[in-house]
Amino acid sequence: MSDNTLMRRFPSSGYLEQQAAARLPNFVFDYLQGGSGRQCSLGRNMAAFEQVTLTPRCFNDCQEVDLGTTLFGRHYRLPFGIAPIGLDGLIWPRTVEFLAQAARQAGCPVTASTFATSSLEEVARLAGEMAWFQLYPFSDGAIEQDIMARAGAAGYQVLMVTVDVPVGGRRELDMRNGLSLPPRLGGRVLLDMMRHPVWTLSHARRGPPGFKNLQPYRRHSNDYLPAKIAGRVPWARLVQYRQRWPGRLLVKGVLRAEDALRCRELGIDGIVISNHGGRQLDSCPSTLGVLPDIRRAVGNDFPLIIDSGLRSGLDVARAIAQGADFALLGRTFMYGVAALGQVGAGHAIDMLSDELENAMQMMGCPDIAGLKRWHTGSTAQSGYIKGAGE
Ligand SMILES: Cc1cc2nc3c(=O)[nH]c(=O)nc-3n(C[C@H](O)[C@H](O)[C@H](O)COP(=O)(O)O)c2cc1C
Repeated sequence: MSDNTLMRRFPSSGYLEQQAAARLPNFVFDYLQGGSGRQCSLGRNMAAFEQVTLTPRCFNDCQEVDLGTTLFGRHYRLPFGIAPIGLDGLIWPRTVEFLAQAARQAGCPVTASTFATSSLEEVARLAGEMAWFQLYPFSDGAIEQDIMARAGAAGYQVLMVTVDVPVGGRRELDMRNGLSLPPRLGGRVLLDMMRHPVWTLSHARRGPPGFKNLQPYRRHSNDYLPAKIAGRVPWARLVQYRQRWPGRLLVKGVLRAEDALRCRELGIDGIVISNHGGRQLDSCPSTLGVLPDIRRAVGNDFPLIIDSGLRSGLDVARAIAQGADFALLGRTFMYGVAALGQVGAGHAIDMLSDELENAMQMMGCPDIAGLKRWHTGSTAQSGYIKGAGE
């Protein structure tokens, strides 16, 4: 399919999601799309974006729009990137590898999860300087030391520590589906797989996905690797990460202004305001809802990255206008690859860029700096706080 045909057939995330739902077995689609509990956080995240209005400045001439932005002293061609997704290979074989290649080409970051099904070394090789690494805290300090050393040796400059998984969220769909790795091949799962032959064949060719980053630490065949994750991150542990990681350090999963301030005081380079895409505590506020408060608390110079609930380039514009410096998306990219295979990775980036450019042209906003100073309609407060931290 040419790029034009792709854009015509899949002009937005919803169409990719539909196609993904048709191609993936139900237990796999549920793993990707679902949230925890009654999925209130999941719904709230997306609803919050829909409520933000952006009033155009019609008389600004804005044919040319510059989507580039600087974060951590590095220029990115786009103000958004790819969030870490564990068990990506269950959704489609080699997903994170396809995303890494597409991200490098587009000039936006891609985050390799601790639980990726390709090795962190392979993702770094494919993504080059666009590669970020996401770390879950390990209960075994030696493993954690080793994985951080491997990330440094592979060339990662940005380490993102996830702090919102002290315990796993209750994902009821996964519980009911009996999600496991490798999939337990009961009658229902087998039937589900037979009804989705393209997915099943692609996995038959590749073999079952595994947690590649953790495999060197497997001591015996029954060693359940995710059990090596500690989950909780007390402040003292964050201090240790800061001492041990010489590159940029991000904390993912912050939702409170006082926690953001403390992170800044500890020398953390930025935070990802995230509720894990509505997959953890099901009564979390939407990330967009807490963003203005956090921005007010930390001032304009502390990098704030947002995720959870963005489904379009327009949502990226809304997030930046509300005070974010940068955005990450998870499911949207996964829908791209699930729907279309490798070309879906590049298409998802093109689609989001196109949506963002189109929105900014209509707003009369020439660049990302202008977007940060835009006034949004959801709250009285615009993202850029005059006087805060200037
Ligand atoms: C299937 C799936 C797996 C995920 N795995 C991880 C992970 O391994 N590490 C992590 O920090 N976040 C993980 N997340 C959360 C994402 O990084 C991100 O916060 C979330 O997807 C953003 O919300 P969105 O999907 O609405 O864009 C996962 C999310 C999904 C949907």
